[in-house]
Amino acid sequence: MKDYKPADSFDSVTAANYVDFKRGDEEAAVRFLKERAHDGPALEWAIGTGRIALPLTAAGISVDGNDISPHMIERLRTQQGGEDISIVMGSFVDTVMPRKYALVYVVFNTLFNVLSQEEQVRCFENAAAHLTGDGVFVVEAFVPAFLYRLQDNQYVQAEAIEVNRVRLDLLCHDAAKQMLEENHVTLSGDGVKFNPVAQRYAWPAELDLMARIAGLRLKERFGSWHEEAFSSSSDNCISVYGIR
Ligand SMILES: C[S@@+](CC[C@H](N)C(=O)[O-])C[C@H]1O[C@@H](n2cnc3c(N)ncnc32)[C@H](O)[C@@H]1O
Repeated sequence: MKDYKPADSFDSVTAANYVDFKRGDEEAAVRFLKERAHDGPALEWAIGTGRIALPLTAAGISVDGNDISPHMIERLRTQQGGEDISIVMGSFVDTVMPRKYALVYVVFNTLFNVLSQEEQVRCFENAAAHLTGDGVFVVEAFVPAFLYRLQDNQYVQAEAIEVNRVRLDLLCHDAAKQMLEENHVTLSGDGVKFNPVAQRYAWPAELDLMARIAGLRLKERFGSWHEEAFSSSSDNCISVYGIR
């Protein structure tokens, strides 16, 4: 997607609506992360509006965060507890935080928002550099298998159809580049609104190799935050890496 910049996906309108958006597995995710954080502290790369960080903080873990979008952080600050979270702005590829963590995590496929393999490796290296000796790095990312089942490597879905407004989701998959390009398009009386996103995905095995390059090794892997076994039918992959 020519001229696409990841920060464009998280503008003020997206940030304003983001807190209404729940995946539904927040409670299980927070329970999982709290267990791995032990006494903390924890760091969320790409904290967004605090969907996970705020309940994790409320559960007693000290959480710091980072993000590239000032709009998402502004929205985080408006929520209860959001003012108290220490944030460093910048990409998690190279942002330096002021302390080390028992848990670093990046969830909701956000590792894939970094659009090259080289930068994704740097994300692993940066996470490793921020871990305490027995700390862990948790990555939640989709399993790309569904992309290979698409007819003609693309789809258009009607996400909402109303009298004066429709919302379409358009996606194209490039298997050679391991890239997906997607745009949520809203057509209404107010005009046309685009919400583009591009992601460079990786299979779990590639994540493990990136981790090894960063001096980490896979300790645990699940198919969901409920700790379901990871299998060939898993859509989601939750990996826990520790220092080798
Ligand atoms: C889909 S949201 C997820 C937010 C939050 N982690 C959650 O689970 O609700 C993705 C977030 O990643 C941020 N982001 C994207 N690329 C980033 C990068 N390279 N470094 C830091 N933040 C990034 C965006 O600004 C946005 O807040």
